[in-house]
Amino acid sequence: MADFDLVIKGGTVATAADTVPCDIGIRDGRVVALGDSLKNAKETIDATGKLVLPGGVDSHCHIAQMGSMGVETADDFESGTRSAACGGTTTIIPFAAQYRGQSLRTVVDAYRKRAEGKALCDYAIHLIISDPTEQVLGQELPGLIRDGYTSFKVYMTYDALKLDDRQMLDVLACARREGAMVMVHAENHDVIKWITERLLNAGKIAPKYHVVAHAAPAEREATHRVITLAEIVDVPILIVHVSGREAIEQIRWAQSRGLRVMAETCPQYLFLSAEDLDKAGFEGAKCQCSPPPRGKENQPFVWLGIEDGTFQTIGSDHAPYRYDEGGKMKNGPNAPFTKVPNGIPGLEVRMPLVFSEGVLKKRITVNRFVSLMATEPAKIYGLYPRKGTIAVGSDADIVIWDTERKVTITQSILHDNMNYTPYEGQKVQGWPIVTLSRGRVVWNDGKVVGKPGHGQFLPCALPEPAKPRPRPAGFDYDFARF
Ligand code: URP
Ligand code: ZN
Ligand code: ZN
Repeated sequence: MADFDLVIKGGTVATAADTVPCDIGIRDGRVVALGDSLKNAKETIDATGKLVLPGGVDSHCHIAQMGSMGVETADDFESGTRSAACGGTTTIIPFAAQYRGQSLRTVVDAYRKRAEGKALCDYAIHLIISDPTEQVLGQELPGLIRDGYTSFKVYMTYDALKLDDRQMLDVLACARREGAMVMVHAENHDVIKWITERLLNAGKIAPKYHVVAHAAPAEREATHRVITLAEIVDVPILIVHVSGREAIEQIRWAQSRGLRVMAETCPQYLFLSAEDLDKAGFEGAKCQCSPPPRGKENQPFVWLGIEDGTFQTIGSDHAPYRYDEGGKMKNGPNAPFTKVPNGIPGLEVRMPLVFSEGVLKKRITVNRFVSLMATEPAKIYGLYPRKGTIAVGSDADIVIWDTERKVTITQSILHDNMNYTPYEGQKVQGWPIVTLSRGRVVWNDGKVVGKPGHGQFLPCALPEPAKPRPRPAGFDYDFARF
């Protein structure tokens, strides 16, 4: 009898901690051995001269989701996980989104059905909470957390989703009681609305004005405010899709004071800029997302946040709306920026973009790359060590990278359901050539060989409880239980 179903031979294996040349022995979908000259396998993959990394964990993507403007994302669980796997990501965490008046449990059940039989790789699910009623926070959410939905996103902007500060405190207090993880979209709603009104009154409707409306100080203020609210409740938070230098500085300030504030950024803030929203005609809509990419001079500050550890993770915020009347042009080909669905695709290129500009340009080590792209998101959202690393006992979610391969990104080589990529023409070096999900090859040198239905739902554990923080005298109330 063979010792292994599969051995990956001769590669250089890198995790968040180490880089070592070794073989990987896989049985029943798991890593069972790491060592030299592993033999006696049913199958062997030769990874000589290649880098072997844990499959990526993209903890921020919108798949099979109705957006706040009533437009459905172009990707469902099949095309979304296919595209993920081809880009080196083997776990995705999209969102089951509650709109006001909806039962969270009903939303989650319906979302689980949308995934059934479709995914090529594994997925967990975050919740979006827009209606934090007593019933939702007192009953539905605690039950869902016990069922493995241990993280939820809340919004400080968007008419359909926004929570006010009081609601935010209620949600944060619930997260503290239950030990769950809160992800925050931090932008000041009233500031955005106020500027927007003035822009529209002046006839300034083109996509480039989206950047003006979603001003960096509005992101900074909301970031600071939610840090303050979380400090009052004494609960960890993770601020998602952080774009501007100003917001990064607030997060660094909070972290330097010992507050448990984590942060995610996205490739669009490293590779795109406000100039991309100022393309001829309506083309700028292709890069319209919130928060928006800032001026080019902002990009080094995002890299700095990655290099100095302010950011724990990089998500794609893949929010795919096609460049046609079913997506970006839902309200016409010259609609005001307020009527353009917000979001851009990026699931498949998240890892290659950051590998190329981050690792190969020596901004970060390959181990830090693995940490940002796989290990930390797996830890933060309760999937580690099953996901996010290569270790004995972990799922064999493994990606073989050709670090020499030069690729020009263009939509025709991607595997999502989109009809454009905002990274059209971007040159990168380093590309995932083989992707395994639980020991099965899903992507093999240019061919999708994975099957819909292989991917499983992953219930998430609660994140590790943080050590209680010493609190100043006179401020030692546990408001979450008060
Ligand atoms: O513009 C974006 N980022 N759209 C997706 C939804 C969100 O807020 O993350
Ligand atoms: Zn958001
Ligand atoms: Zn998002």
